[in-house]
Amino acid sequence: MYEIVTKRELAANIYLIEVAAEDVAKKAKPGQFVILRLNEKGERVPLTIAGLDLENGTVAVAFHAVGRSTKKLAKMKEGDSIHDLVGPLGNPTEIAKFGRILCVAGGVWCAPLRFIVQALRDKGNEIVIVAAGRTKDTLVFEKELKELSDEFYVATDDGSKGHKGLDFLKDLLKTQKFDHAMAMGQVVLLQTVTEITRAHNLKTMVTLASIMVDGMGMCGACRVTVAGETKFACMDGPEFDGHQVDFEELIRRQRVYLPEERMASMLYEKLGGMKRG
Ligand SMILES: Cc1cc2nc3c(=O)[nH]c(=O)nc-3n(C[C@H](O)[C@H](O)[C@H](O)COP(=O)(O)OP(=O)(O)OC[C@H]3O[C@@H](n4cnc5c(N)ncnc54)[C@H](O)[C@@H]3O)c2cc1C
Ligand code: FES
Repeated sequence: MYEIVTKRELAANIYLIEVAAEDVAKKAKPGQFVILRLNEKGERVPLTIAGLDLENGTVAVAFHAVGRSTKKLAKMKEGDSIHDLVGPLGNPTEIAKFGRILCVAGGVWCAPLRFIVQALRDKGNEIVIVAAGRTKDTLVFEKELKELSDEFYVATDDGSKGHKGLDFLKDLLKTQKFDHAMAMGQVVLLQTVTEITRAHNLKTMVTLASIMVDGMGMCGACRVTVAGETKFACMDGPEFDGHQVDFEELIRRQRVYLPEERMASMLYEKLGGMKRG
C-alpha cells in the first residue's frame, strides 16, 4: 500500500499528491512515469512523475480528474492508501546542454514539466516556457514555472489569459533562435506545437500519453507509429520526435474506449463514487 502523504488542489479538478514510495523515488528521473491502481480491481492509471522528495521517500504526481479512476483518486485524502504503484517506467527526458529550449505544456502537464525544467536549468540551458490551458482556470504552477524560466508566456484557448491560442509561437520562432523544443499535453497541443516548429526545423520532443495497460512492453496497448515504425510508448518513449509521430493514428487509438470511459464515469457519478473497481 502506498500512502498519500500530501494532497493539494492546484486548480479546479487538478491535484498534486505526494505518495510514499521510497523505492520508486530512489530510482526515478524527470520524464518517467508511474502506473497506479486504487484497489485490487482498479484500472491502471499512468501518471508522469512531477517531483521527488528523497528525504521523505515520496513521489509527486499531478492529475486531472477526467474519468472514473482519476475522480476516485481526487476523492482520496491525505493518509489514505493507493493499492499499488509501479515505477519508474519509461525513459527519462534527455537532460543535456542544448542551449535555448522552448518548453510548452498544457494544463496538468505543467506539473511534470516543472520537474523536467529544473533539471534542464541545472545543466545551464536557457528556458522559455509556455504554460497553456483551455481557460485561465486550468493553468497550474504559473508562478513556479515563471521563476524557473528566462522567458515565460501564458496561452489560453479562449484568450481568458495571455495569448489566445498558440499562434503567437510562429512570431516567437521568427524572432528567436531555439536549439531544442519539448511539448507535453493533449494531442492537439502536441500537433499544433510540432506543426509550428517543423517550419523552423526545430527538433521537438513530445510526450505521448497513449493508452497503456502494463507499461512494460508486453500488452501492445500503447503502440504508436513514429517515422513509419511501430513503437511502444511505454518502453521506447514516452517522448518521441514530434515531427515523426503519426498523430492521427494516436488520436484514433485514444478514442477506442471513449463510450466505455464515458459510461464508467457517468455510473461512478450516479453511484456517488461508492462502487469499487
Ligand atoms: C505515460 C503517461 C503519462 C501520463 N501522465 C499524466 C499526468 O501526469 N497527469 C494526468 O492527469 N494524466 C496523465 N496521463 C493520462 C492519464 O493516465 C489518464 O487521464 C487516466 O488514465 C484517465 O483515467 P480515468 O479512469 O480517470 O479516465 P478514463 O475515462 O478512463 O479516460 C479519460 C481519458 O484518459 C485516457 N486514458 C484512459 N486510460 C488510460 C491509460 N491507461 N493510459 C493512458 N491514457 C488513458 C483516455 O483516452 C481518455 O481520453 C498520462 C498517460 C500516460 C500514458
Ligand atoms: S503499455 Fe503495454 S506495451 Fe506499452
